[in-house]
Parts: sequence; C-alpha cells; structure tokens
Amino acid sequence: MSDYKQTATSLIETGMAYISVPRQMVQVALAAEKTIINGMQSAPVAMKANRPGELPDEFDIGLTYKNGTEATDHKFFWHYSHDLRKHFSEIQLQHLNRFAAELEALDRLQKRLEEASRGVIDCLDKVPGLFESGLPDNILASYRRSRPYATTTLRGLWYPAGGAQDGAKRHADRNFLTIHLGDIGGQLLGSVDQDAQQDKLVSPKPGQALVFFGVKAWLLSKRKLPFMWHQSTVEPGHDRQALVHFVQADVGFPVTRSSDILDHYSFD
Ligand SMILES: [Fe+2]
Repeated sequence: MSDYKQTATSLIETGMAYISVPRQMVQVALAAEKTIINGMQSAPVAMKANRPGELPDEFDIGLTYKNGTEATDHKFFWHYSHDLRKHFSEIQLQHLNRFAAELEALDRLQKRLEEASRGVIDCLDKVPGLFESGLPDNILASYRRSRPYATTTLRGLWYPAGGAQDGAKRHADRNFLTIHLGDIGGQLLGSVDQDAQQDKLVSPKPGQALVFFGVKAWLLSKRKLPFMWHQSTVEPGHDRQALVHFVQADVGFPVTRSSDILDHYSFD
C-alpha cells in the first residue's frame, strides 16, 4: 500500500493520520517565518492581500495580526502561497524582495506538503461511495490550479510569550484538509468524536505532521469524513510557533468560519 493510500485509509477510519516531513525543512521554514513576521511589521504598507473568490475582508495572503483574549496576547499569522506575488502591489513587492531566501524556504515546504495533500486527495477520490460521484470536480479543479480560488496556503503562526498569552480556542477548521507540522512552545489537543468530553494530545513528533479534515470534507462527503475539533495550549513564558498547511475547496458559498457549515447541517 502506498504511503498516501495508507494515510487516506487512516483518515477515513480514524479521522487523523501522521506523515513524515523532513525535520530540517521544517526548522528552516520556522526560522524563515519568524524573520518575515518581524521584518513585515516595519513595512510602510499592510503586507496582506486577498485573492479573488475570497470575501473582501478575508485576507488569506500575507501578514495578519490579532489579539487573543487580552490586549497583551499578540498573535501573528504569515500566510504564504505560491501566488503571493500576483496579489501584492508594487510597494508591497519591494518590501517582500528583502526576504527572498526566507520565501524560498517556505516555498520548498509548501511544495512538499502540496505533494502530500494531493497524493492523499487523489486516493480519497478513488474510494467508492465516499463522494457521490467521485470527489467533486470543483475541489480537484481548485486544487490543481493555483488560482483564482484559495487553494492551498501555508500558515506560519507566532505567539510571542506575554502576560496573558493563550493558545487557539477549540474549533474545527473551515477548509477541506489540514496538515499540522507541530508546535514549539505548546501542544495540540484534538478529537474527532463529537461527544468527547476531553481532547487528547495529538501533537506530531518532530519529523512528522498531523493530517486531519476540516468541515468542508465532512460536508462534501455527506458527513462521512470526520472533521477534528482541536485547540492548542501554550507553555507559559515561551513563544508559540507552528506551521500549518491548509487545502481549501469551493463548496459553492463563502465559508469564513466552520460555523458557516456546522450551523446549517446536522450530524445525523
Ligand atoms: Fe485549526
């Protein structure tokens, strides 16, 4: 059985799977992410953009910042994609050029993860009965071209250590598939059981990544593919850093949060 097939089987049966990703590649990308986020904060313009197909206020490329529960809880997100440059203005591009080496490191990792997610998606597509008539064309089409709809993004997140720092609250991802490359300064807890009282530790070991579904997979498989509820913890006094790869899909309406799907479809 190929690795992708094994991953797809584990995903279908247990809602999660671990894959191998070269440790060195991840370490270099983590360092690059931090350098970019630090550098972009002093940019003369907002270093973010949205692609066609997204809502106007839904920035899916570049740097976004938000406070956590407290004003002192800083959370930075750098969203990389291959088509980043296509959506940035001249002045943004000038600023971006200073980070050529860092962007290249993210690109290498992103390509590797795209290869993995594409391999898994191709296997899912071949499972009889999982999707009504094969994996809907819009996913495959949106996945195989790099634009215009948001397809795959590599998120680097960085929560600097601070007084009231906390992790991500319990949520389900709004996308089709997520590959989580592990956490520094925190852990990932998750559960595919809708009735679970407590999430279990699911953080991947170094050299591995955790693969799981977002709510779009659940919706498009007519509730057959289980999505994962998850949250993250932080180690007090430590920065939290993580890299996450998201595979998007067009389900025919905008989905900015998982509740856009979960509030309208039942679990039966
Ligand atoms: Fe998430």
